[in-house]
Amino acid sequence: MTLKERLVRLIETGGPIPVSTYMQLCLHDPAQGYYASRPAIGRDFITAPEISQVFGELIGLWLVHEWRAMGSPDSFRLVEIGPGRGALMQDALRLAMVAGSEDFAKAMQLTMVEMSPALREMQCAGLSSAAPEFVSTLAEVPSGPMLLVANEYLDCLPARQFRKDGTCWRECVVGLNGERELVFGLAANEQAAPEGVAAASAAVEVQVGLDLILADLVMRDAPYRALFIDYGPSDVAPGDSLRSFKDGKQVSPLALPGESDLTVDVDFGRLARLATKASLDVAGPVPQGMFLMGLGAQARLNQLVKANPDEADAIYEAVRRLIDPAEMGERFKAICLSSPGLPQPAGF
Ligand SMILES: C[S@@+](CC[C@H](N)C(=O)[O-])C[C@H]1O[C@@H](n2cnc3c(N)ncnc32)[C@H](O)[C@@H]1O
Repeated sequence: MTLKERLVRLIETGGPIPVSTYMQLCLHDPAQGYYASRPAIGRDFITAPEISQVFGELIGLWLVHEWRAMGSPDSFRLVEIGPGRGALMQDALRLAMVAGSEDFAKAMQLTMVEMSPALREMQCAGLSSAAPEFVSTLAEVPSGPMLLVANEYLDCLPARQFRKDGTCWRECVVGLNGERELVFGLAANEQAAPEGVAAASAAVEVQVGLDLILADLVMRDAPYRALFIDYGPSDVAPGDSLRSFKDGKQVSPLALPGESDLTVDVDFGRLARLATKASLDVAGPVPQGMFLMGLGAQARLNQLVKANPDEADAIYEAVRRLIDPAEMGERFKAICLSSPGLPQPAGF
């Protein structure tokens, strides 16, 4: 039975399901979810570390800088959540080893937070010399100083969607029409206005996973620092941003459950508010272009072009995509959450 057929059965038996449940099943069903069974990074969608090595390399320099800012602990966890094919970490470690000398390498234990068996295999193959350990959730990362990085992970966290219906709010659900096709609808029950929603909003998305990340971070002993890069607004909560991608093209989120990627915009304003309320230090969000330029993107670009003159145009074009405000430079943001008392992180 396909995931679509299972979803139809589930809804016929128990009634419409929240959009967040639909997203969770489509992405992470252990047998037929997108990431569990057929993640196609580079074909369905492309991410910054897959566009240019400069992205991961600058994060490598950032990691060494922040390790030193934490007092160069002689043992720490280097954690990546949602590492995809492992490109970011491969580029980061290559540069970190050069910039950080042997001490950084000796002190580091690489820990990957990844639920997808298919992606774990790829990450293992590309990073075998760093002997990564694998866990499925941030809560499982052993104690000790930690530097964490996550690119395009937050946008995969399932979002509950709410919509104003006249004067009341209702949750958006996935149900069935008369032809037993998946359709969006509204739950019968009214509910209170979602927390923090602007008076003028008619729709809002809430990613409960953001609360869970904060809960996992505050439970850790200091010091730690977590860098998240993703797309989304920094001032208003997203309304309805659920999108789906297959073979580089946008498709309906209901068309190919488990066969296409599902994603939402990240509410950076809410993430910053939650972190501040939990007494973490918050830097950003800042636009990705500004963050990368602050870390030395121009200098690294110049070095690469000088070393590879035959590929100069392609190298330049790839870095431009990451930085140009008309491409990824403005829409993508970086935010850094730290245990209290550390200096301001680089790039903010
Ligand atoms: C869009 S890909 C990004 C990959 C990579 N960071 C990059 O930039 O190329 C999303 C990654 O997050 C992982 N992921 C999504 N939801 C997750 C969750 N709840 N827990 C752990 N990993 C998750 C996926 O398996 C995948 O590795």
